[in-house]
Amino acid sequence: MELLETLKKRALETLEKVADASGLAQWEIEIFGRKQGELTRLLRSLRDLPEAERRKIGAGANKLREKLEEELNKKRAFIKKQTTKRELLKEKVDITFPGTRHKRGHLHPLTQIRLTSEHIFTSLGFAIVEGPEIETEFYNFDALNMAGHSARDMQETFWLDKSIPGKNRYVPRTQVTGIQVRFMERHNPPFRIVYSGTCFRREATDASHEFQFDQLECLMVDKDITVANLKYILHAFFEKLFGKGVEIRLRPSYFPFTEPSFEVDITCIGCSGRGCSICKQSGWVELLGAGMVNQKVFKAAGYVPRQWQGFAFGMGLDRIAMMKYKIPDIRLFRQNDIRFLQQF
Ligand code: DAH
Repeated sequence: MELLETLKKRALETLEKVADASGLAQWEIEIFGRKQGELTRLLRSLRDLPEAERRKIGAGANKLREKLEEELNKKRAFIKKQTTKRELLKEKVDITFPGTRHKRGHLHPLTQIRLTSEHIFTSLGFAIVEGPEIETEFYNFDALNMAGHSARDMQETFWLDKSIPGKNRYVPRTQVTGIQVRFMERHNPPFRIVYSGTCFRREATDASHEFQFDQLECLMVDKDITVANLKYILHAFFEKLFGKGVEIRLRPSYFPFTEPSFEVDITCIGCSGRGCSICKQSGWVELLGAGMVNQKVFKAAGYVPRQWQGFAFGMGLDRIAMMKYKIPDIRLFRQNDIRFLQQF
């Protein structure tokens, strides 16, 4: 009977100290284990006792077993409750904790240049219009006096497989100039418009050539527009974009949709006209094409010939952005390298 008491005391004491499921399993083996369990061994030893004693002690031992089983179950339930509580605490969200700040993106340098340019031109009275990126052969070429052969060689072209049956081939536009005809078909002068967008040419790429690039153009038509108006608007634009002191220079050139036509140079921004590697020591950089709208374009748009005069010019926005931000390679714009883009 004494042995029973000591076993009970010790068993309950150690159970008290058990803190988790694995400790409990260990305890269970120590007490109830089939071979070496302390209680098991005690019960087994009863066999050697005389009948009367065996009965008496056996009853006490059974009571002890029941008691220890009861305590084991209680402890098991307690540990289970503790564990769930701990798990729930781990899952809790502290809503008073400061949030994670998301990085804000910003506009691509080409978009910035386009928006800045559009802003300058709208302040000079031009309205923003749009046209499709996939053009028809008619608007991209034919209506601009580029039907047929040699004039088109100025622009190597991609063609789309699909075409309007019996009529027109589709082309990723090589210039935004076709928007002139699209607009004039629906509107009568006087007007000033600015339009821009991505263009595509079959071009071998290098530091200053891409097969995809952005253009921005202006067209102004009225009764007696002259080259003086063209020069004034161009000069005003470049002064607002690059600052006072920027000069422009017109050189004779050829475009099928203007007559006369010009190449327009501006003072090199890299050296303020003193001469550097960007302008090949000339002090000037060629930035755009311009001219007085060819009467054939007016005719293609449905205007009565000789009634109207207008100027137009078109520039590569990539080139302007390269000048403005001093970017040495046009291919950087569309490589999507975040280290490049983050600088603007
Ligand atoms: N479309 C021409 C080009 O891509 C640029 C140009 C020249 C546009 C003269 C014009 C213009 O509107 O009048 O090279």
